[in-house]
Amino acid sequence: MTETLSTHIRKEFPSLANTVNGYPVAFLDGPGGYQVPQTVIQAVDDYLINSNANVEGMFETSRKTDQMLKEARCAFADFFNCSSDEVIFGANMTTLNFSLAQALMREMTVGDKVIITEIDHEGNRGPWEQLRERGVIVEEAVVDTETCTLSMADLERKLSAGTRVVAVNYASNAVGTITDVKKVVKMAHSVGAFTIVDAVHYAAHRSIDVREIGTDFLFCSAYKFFGPHIGVMYAKKEVLSKLRPMRVRPQKSYPPDMFETGTLHHEGIAGAAAAVGFVADMGAKFGKQLNKTPESRGDTRRNRIVAGLIVFDEYEAELTQYLIKGLEKINKIKIYGPPTGHPRTSTVSFTYDGFTPYEVADYLGERGLSVWHGDFFAARLVERLGLRDQGGLIRVGIAPYNTREELTRLIDSLNDTAALKTFVSTKR
Ligand SMILES: Cc1ncc(COP(=O)(O)O)c(C=O)c1O
Repeated sequence: MTETLSTHIRKEFPSLANTVNGYPVAFLDGPGGYQVPQTVIQAVDDYLINSNANVEGMFETSRKTDQMLKEARCAFADFFNCSSDEVIFGANMTTLNFSLAQALMREMTVGDKVIITEIDHEGNRGPWEQLRERGVIVEEAVVDTETCTLSMADLERKLSAGTRVVAVNYASNAVGTITDVKKVVKMAHSVGAFTIVDAVHYAAHRSIDVREIGTDFLFCSAYKFFGPHIGVMYAKKEVLSKLRPMRVRPQKSYPPDMFETGTLHHEGIAGAAAAVGFVADMGAKFGKQLNKTPESRGDTRRNRIVAGLIVFDEYEAELTQYLIKGLEKINKIKIYGPPTGHPRTSTVSFTYDGFTPYEVADYLGERGLSVWHGDFFAARLVERLGLRDQGGLIRVGIAPYNTREELTRLIDSLNDTAALKTFVSTKR
C-alpha cells in the first residue's frame, strides 16, 4: 500500500522534478512548508484567470469569488469538523493569533491570567505574552526536557479561577511531540478559561476534530499541508460572536466576517480549499485499503479527509521509524523527541556532535537534501533543551511525497563524516 501511495502521490507534485547540483531534490523541510500538488497550482491559476474580483459585486467574477469563498469555508468546515461560519481566513496563523489576543484582551482586566507553554511555537506565545503590558499575568507550563513532552501536572497546578486563556500546542514543529489537547481544553474549561489550540504542525499529519476536542479556537496554516501561504482559524461561533475584535465600520458584525479585516487572499484561499480536496482525494483513493475505522466509513468529504490523514500518518510512521533507526546508528548524533510509544508526528530533530546545525544543513543542502536548522521559532523549547547557544537542532520532516530512498540518501550523507568534515572545513 505504501509503495502505491508514494508512487502515485509523487506524480502530482511538479516541484519534485527539480534537481540541485545534479541531485534530485529531497524536500525534507515539510514542517516549514509542504510542496504543492498540481491541483492546488491549478486552483490558484484558475481563480486568477476566471474569478479574480473583490466580493459582493453584481458581476460574474465577483459572484464567482463569493461562491469560491463559500465553498472554501465548507471545505475547511469538513477539515475541522465545524460549521462553515466558524471558519476564518487570514494572512497566517501568527497574525490571526495577534488579532485574537487583541480581541480577548478586551475581555480581561489587570491581574487576569494567561497560560502559555514552553513547547509552543512563538506564534502561540508572542501574541499572549504581549498582554503583560496590560497587566495580565502570563505563566508558562513547563516542558519535561527528558521526554520533550508538556507537563500536564504543571499545567494543572498553574490553572486557577483567574485563568482566562490557555494557549497550547497540538504537535511540536520542533520535535514532533503530540500533546493531549482534549485533556488541556477540559482542564482549562473547568476554570472558565478560553482555549486556543495551535494545530499548525499537527494538521498535516492527523485529522482535527474541534467538536471532539471542545476547544474555543484552533489554528492551522494551509502552506503546512499542500496549500498556499495563508492561515485558517476555527472559532466557536457562540464564543466569537460575543467578542469585540478590531474591525472597520462597514464590516459585518457577526462570524465569520467580523474577524476578517480587509480583502482576503482569494487566490490563496482557492488553493487552500484545493489542498483540503487533495487530502480528501488521497483518502478516497487509498483509504479503502485501510482497516475500516469508524472515521473512514461513509463517503462524505469529512470521512475522506480523515481517511487521507490516516493513510499519510501510517505511511509517515513507517518512514519515521526507519529514519530514527538509521540516525541512532550514528554515534555522534543525538535525537531529541518524545519517547517510543508517545504520540508523535514524522518530524525528527537531532544534533551532530562536532558540527553546528547550520553546517550540517548547509552540507545536506548541497546534496539536494533540504532540511531545516535552528529553532524553527520554537525558541523557548530549544532554549530549555540547552541548545540555543549551539545553534539549535537539525530538523527532518517526512511528508507523504518523501520516500525511503530519500531517507537512505540522508542517512548515508550523515554517515559520511569525512565528506562532512571536508565540506565544513572549506567553509570555516
Ligand atoms: C507549530 C507552529 N505554530 C505556528 C506557526 C506559525 O505559523 P504561520 O507561519 O502561519 O504564522 C508555525 C510555523 O512554522 C508552526 O510550525
